[in-house]
Amino acid sequence: MVGARIEQPIGVFDSGVGGLTVLKALQRRLPLEDFLYLGDTARLPYGTKSAQSITRYALQAATLLVRQPVKLLVIACNTASSVALPALHELFHPLPIIGVIGPGAEASCKASVSGAIAVIATESTVRQGAYNDAISRIRPDASVISVACPLFVALAEEGWVDGPLVEGIIARYLQPLLIVPKPHRIDCLVLGCTHFPVLSEAIANVVGTEIALVDSAETTAVAVEDKLRSEGLLHDSGRKAGSVHFFATDGADRFARVGGIFLDKPISPADVEIVDL
Ligand code: DGL
Repeated sequence: MVGARIEQPIGVFDSGVGGLTVLKALQRRLPLEDFLYLGDTARLPYGTKSAQSITRYALQAATLLVRQPVKLLVIACNTASSVALPALHELFHPLPIIGVIGPGAEASCKASVSGAIAVIATESTVRQGAYNDAISRIRPDASVISVACPLFVALAEEGWVDGPLVEGIIARYLQPLLIVPKPHRIDCLVLGCTHFPVLSEAIANVVGTEIALVDSAETTAVAVEDKLRSEGLLHDSGRKAGSVHFFATDGADRFARVGGIFLDKPISPADVEIVDL
């Protein structure tokens, strides 16, 4: 890409702290890279908003990161990926931009034996049908059923990730998927929202061991590595561990407190810069 340099950071964006599950996988796979993470916490949730609003928010958030500048942008939000990727590509061409839907679809097609796949996501991602399209492109024989689980975002943002109350809410959303008899019974459940991996233990307790849970974090990190390598922008040696800088649009304390659960390491409120988009 014109002007992109290897020493520039990678920009990562989500509506809140959910994308930190993707950042965690990115840092593990690409330990030498620097990252800028932006959580649009003032406007969360995106998943209940219209496609127009989500696209506008995503373009504003991406603009802040692109101006830093970054060498690659990761849309670590299924909702923004399913709605706004074409507009982002158009506006920021030729910057490499990677969303999480394609990598998540790829992971589910690998994990499912029967091809009966369920996707749980926000209302907007379900309405958009982006997973159905991406999965059937890779595996035309697959049957995909999508269920919106908007309350999971609130639970995750609140840091409520386990216990009987949480499992009760999960069961209420997922029960219809679990009573489908074989051979149509699903064998793979896609966590199609970057907020959901922190609930994966509670979800596994509800769905049992015969259904594989997949999320897009690892496959997205592989896609980012491949892209950086092919563009000649990958840090692969001769450098100390990379850094991370956090931006949020509201609530540094809350971002740090809940974000630590998602990233699996403590975040100090002093390290969270509040920005206006
Ligand atoms: N983390 C976002 C996603 O992956 C959704 C959260 C929200 O509704 O803002 O879809």
